[in-house]
Amino acid sequence: MSVGLIDALVILAHPLAGMAAAYFLYKQWSAIKSIRRKSDISTMSPEQKDEILNKHQTMGKKAPSIVAFVITLAITAEIYRGIVMDVPLSELVSLHGWLGALLLIATISMSKTGRSMTSSNSEDYHKAPQRNMHSKIGGAMMWLLASIVFLGFLRLLEVLG
Ligand code: HEM
Ligand code: HEM
Repeated sequence: MSVGLIDALVILAHPLAGMAAAYFLYKQWSAIKSIRRKSDISTMSPEQKDEILNKHQTMGKKAPSIVAFVITLAITAEIYRGIVMDVPLSELVSLHGWLGALLLIATISMSKTGRSMTSSNSEDYHKAPQRNMHSKIGGAMMWLLASIVFLGFLRLLEVLG
């Protein structure tokens, strides 16, 4: 099967947006982790810490829509390949795609636990029960993200090949 210019543009939109989203999620994770890192804490003022935390919260609220947008681009490419390029349905789903759906669920639950942690009436989110969950899913998400990006590259080779 040969791939034309329009086909390539439709197929490449999702991987490009996916890489940008993966970078965004990684930054979201690494910035908040730096608050805890001992070497960084000593050089960080309380204002800088607050700024990182505020940014973490506003960006975190946008994360589910960003991942959903990336998946919408993937589905658009799937529909295009299915209808215009006559690719059979069995070739349109992959492990990469299932893990992508799992990432969306994880991102939504991060946004939910994050919100309820900061809105739980007390100022002290450190003691909020959702914090443990937020921390655990947050860690697991980075492994999930790394696998998705790796499998995404393999999927791209498969689709363009
Ligand atoms: C936030 C990150 C990402 C998410 C949530 C995600 C999710 C998905 C989903 C749900 C599909 C459709 C199901 C399937 O084909 O199995 C898909 C397809 C695909 N993804 Fe991703 N993906 C992400 C990042 C990437 C990256 C970084 C690449 C490549 C560098 C990539 C390459 C592909 C390719 C080539 C397809 C097939 C599209 C087609 O059939 O035309 N993805 N992705
Ligand atoms: C995709 C979205 C998100 C990701 C990947 C993420 C990730 C993380 C991670 C990895 C931590 C550090 C946990 C630890 O090791 O103890 C953290 C802490 C935190 N997150 Fe999020 N988060 C997200 C969204 C949100 C949202 C939407 C809010 C609030 C509206 C939020 C509020 C917080 C707070 C208050 C902390 C505690 C900071 C501290 O330890 O001082 N997060 N988040």
